[in-house]
Amino acid sequence: MIRVNSLSKNFNNLLAVDQVSFEVQQGEILGFLGPNGAGKTTTMKMLTCFIPPSSGTAEICGFSILNDPLQVRTQIGYLPESAPSYDEMLVGEFLRFVAEVRGYSGIEMKRRVGMVIEKTSLREVENQMIDTLSKGYRQRTCLAQALIHDPPVLILDEPTDGLDPNQKHEVRSLIKDMSEERTILISTHILEEVDAVCTRAMIIANGHVVGYGTSDELLSQSLYRNSITLCLRNADPRKLLDEFNQLDFVYSVENVPDSREGMVTMRLFPKNKETISCQLEQYLCTKNITFEHFSVDRGRLDEVFRELTTVS
Ligand SMILES: Nc1ncnc2c1ncn2[C@@H]1O[C@H](COP(=O)(O)OP(=O)(O)O)[C@@H](O)[C@H]1O
Ligand SMILES: [Mg+2]
Repeated sequence: MIRVNSLSKNFNNLLAVDQVSFEVQQGEILGFLGPNGAGKTTTMKMLTCFIPPSSGTAEICGFSILNDPLQVRTQIGYLPESAPSYDEMLVGEFLRFVAEVRGYSGIEMKRRVGMVIEKTSLREVENQMIDTLSKGYRQRTCLAQALIHDPPVLILDEPTDGLDPNQKHEVRSLIKDMSEERTILISTHILEEVDAVCTRAMIIANGHVVGYGTSDELLSQSLYRNSITLCLRNADPRKLLDEFNQLDFVYSVENVPDSREGMVTMRLFPKNKETISCQLEQYLCTKNITFEHFSVDRGRLDEVFRELTTVS
């Protein structure tokens, strides 16, 4: 549905996007992650034909952004980073206007506006001025605008930016619902979003793709992958450190500061990030060591993100 081939963009001397290539299949939600200034918005603007690439190309549903920009625009619903404000318009009026620009009129126009209002739950603010909407409703109005022509591909630039946790949750559910029949590229710098909505993520820094995979694949790069946190009551930390360090499936052990009275917390890092919970439980059982809490870490996305996006 989206095929990007060595796309680059220069702004004078700045290489904002440097030979980025990726594909998004039907039904996928690809999270486009990166720090501010990484090149996410610039890439999205090229895919939606708002700015031309300096080199490389991309196809949306088989249409080239270089040769068929008009066709590309019919295939895409786009939520820009700073949503255009039609502050003085009513929500319904704005959506009818967008539908008209898309070439719909009469009953078909009304049907489409009705459909997106339902889909994005805007009925109660239909006759309210955009200027007076809460940020959550404003964002939904922008999403509604992107859906008017029922496009197979959605490109959403930081759709949850600036929303409170409840609004974020709502917009994410909406995006998930829409993914059943669509292909979605969504940029974000919020890491939890990847786990919450995306089927796959791509990490970009300084215009380069530096990471790609499912969130589990990315998490497997974390130092904390499969590490075990163990809380024990009235234990001797030094003795435990010695004991755990001798286990052949353990790479290293650390004593994690714990402010709770009489509680000791240990973190064990497995050799080769392997799964060691069974072996460890067996060992604790044999040694009669009782614990209050035992948990396995999937890995930490913030650490992987930092590792991949900061130049060492
Ligand atoms: N129109 C422009 N002219 C000059 N530089 C730009 C322009 N648009 C973006 N940039 C620069 O390109 C880089 C990438 O920006 P952007 O794509 O907006 O990043 P992101 O969306 O990942 O935060 C930044 O350094 C930004 O300052
Ligand atoms: Mg941006």
